[in-house]
Amino acid sequence: MSEQTLSNLMQENRRFEPPADLAANANVKEEAYARADADREAFWAAAAERLDWGRKWDQVLDWTNPPFAKWFVGGTLNASVNCVDRHVEAGNGDKVAIHWVGEPDDDARDITYAQLKDEVSRAANALTELGVRKGDRVAIYMPMIPEVVVAMLACARLGAPHTVVFGGFSADALASRITDCEAHVVITADGGYRRGAASALKPAVDEAVAKTGDLVRSVLVVRRTGQDVDWDDSRDVWWHDAVDSASAEHEPEMHDSEHPLYVMYTSGTTGKPKGILHTTGGYLTGTSYTHWSVFDLKDDDVYWCTADVGWVTGHSYMAYGPLANGATQVMYEGTPEKGRWWKIVQDYKVSIFYTAPTAIRTFMKQGREIPDGYDMSSLRLLGSVGEPINPEAYVWYREVIGGDRCPVVDTWWQTETGQIMISPLPGVTAGKPGSAMKALPGIAADVVDDDAKSVGNGNGGYLVLKEPWPAMLRTLWGDDQRFKDTYWSRWPGLYFAGDGAKLDEDGDIWLLGRVDDVMNVSGHRLSTTEIESALVSHPKVAEAAVVGAADETTGQAVCAFVILRDSAGDGGEDIVEELRRHVAKEIGAIAKPRQIMVVPELPKTRSGKIMRRLLKDVAEHREVGDVTTLADSTVMDLIKGKEGSAS
Ligand code: WTA
Repeated sequence: MSEQTLSNLMQENRRFEPPADLAANANVKEEAYARADADREAFWAAAAERLDWGRKWDQVLDWTNPPFAKWFVGGTLNASVNCVDRHVEAGNGDKVAIHWVGEPDDDARDITYAQLKDEVSRAANALTELGVRKGDRVAIYMPMIPEVVVAMLACARLGAPHTVVFGGFSADALASRITDCEAHVVITADGGYRRGAASALKPAVDEAVAKTGDLVRSVLVVRRTGQDVDWDDSRDVWWHDAVDSASAEHEPEMHDSEHPLYVMYTSGTTGKPKGILHTTGGYLTGTSYTHWSVFDLKDDDVYWCTADVGWVTGHSYMAYGPLANGATQVMYEGTPEKGRWWKIVQDYKVSIFYTAPTAIRTFMKQGREIPDGYDMSSLRLLGSVGEPINPEAYVWYREVIGGDRCPVVDTWWQTETGQIMISPLPGVTAGKPGSAMKALPGIAADVVDDDAKSVGNGNGGYLVLKEPWPAMLRTLWGDDQRFKDTYWSRWPGLYFAGDGAKLDEDGDIWLLGRVDDVMNVSGHRLSTTEIESALVSHPKVAEAAVVGAADETTGQAVCAFVILRDSAGDGGEDIVEELRRHVAKEIGAIAKPRQIMVVPELPKTRSGKIMRRLLKDVAEHREVGDVTTLADSTVMDLIKGKEGSAS
């Protein structure tokens, strides 16, 4: 973020106090901060009491071998029992767990907790029948249909860690994830609905499975769209055959608190995605406590998180957090279309709504007439996640969607943190547009300089976390060393989040975006290196450099600079389109560069490092900065000369 934007942000001085009635009845009051500071472990132990345990823990936290944490040591529990069975046993079986809304109009289903319990039990029995045992990994590649939640919970019930791969990722990306975590079973669907049409998923699974040798034994397929699919009888099984006929009785085992719950792959600063490992007891404690406190969840709320289940937000705040809390929620299959979201809010009387700034900015562009056409008086609380929310989007969200009465909670967290870490508490904290405010009770965050010293109020630096927290990642799947190197090596004892941040004069935190080679496009994490390796895997490309350039709607956009091989000549007329398609095939459509410039050279230092900073200047149409460390200072003139020809 430029200094200019930064100072604009810091001049933002609007304040929104918590509504009086919300403050008076808030789940969490001011005292929680002091209580957590006085005894952090006791605080999290109290939060863990929210769950049902098979055996209670002997020790809250074992931090004797940092950075490898163990939470609720000796305790046992089952995540699916906590998300489903216990609500039925408590007499809430008839409560709606999921109001599912399909993309095609009038395609909707309500699923109660009792029905969810039966489905999860059936699916657990069917997976057992397919040979899935405790500890086995299961890959899930599905659209936003209830079966994806059932599949995740069935895996959790068996103690088989799932790895959900976003349905927008390519066959190659799916194959690399299946291989990395050695999954023998894949759960998918024939397809899902996207922008009014059936969009196939099974062909990508077929292709991915073919790439992984004989690793995958079974593919369980939900029939969603009814489109034609290739079928391999020795491997493929229809969900409606295997699950519907299975028994709805399933005796759950209690798993160790540290038993792996899932692996979620996310982009890092190198080409290889990182398998973030989350375990059971701490993760469920962290997500259920924060879902209850940050969203001030009440029994009669209707909650809606618009995230896709293929991202961590869909795991923590659609699947595990809300279900552990016995909430009623909306789940929508489609993408944001003009009035559809607001019609859903109106029809289902949604009271808590959680989305990403990129969606808000898109709606802002379309104009307030669209949301103004719906009755959204049921809303009482709004949340934002995934990227910094600019003050204008925040204020628009609050006014237009929230009718100027709903507080906005800007929640900062990461795939790695598992749970919300920095956020206002809606009944306690006054909101400042653009600031995530402060670390939640029980969380220790700070902003430090290069020497790990606190920068103090009024200054900027790097965001760090100073104490372990329950839902923290435990390691990277199969790579303890990379886990230490990536997050814990910069400063001893501090978790380095990769984000820049500033403390204002009141000590409140303003997130400023990534300080590493990770981009944030529409709230989705992408790695510059990963896209660069996709580009150079194309036979016509010799070298590539990728930067994230500021974009009004998507936050950042992917901009690529490529040098073609001599043998490719000028690459041909359609070279840019050809390369964009290639990236989509290698990674997924979300990674497609907005802009690709074919250039004769890339700016490099004398030691051969590409100076992305300079390329970013070009991509953002700025005066190019200091070029004195370039090996060849004329390179930027060559690149600038090409700018006019960019697509
Ligand atoms: C960014 C998504 C500013 C940040 C839950 C972080 C945010 C990365 C916010 C994690 C926010 C997320 N304000 N930036 N409220 N929330 N980020 O792993 O750069 O997909 O490091 O997790 O998103 O992205 P991830």
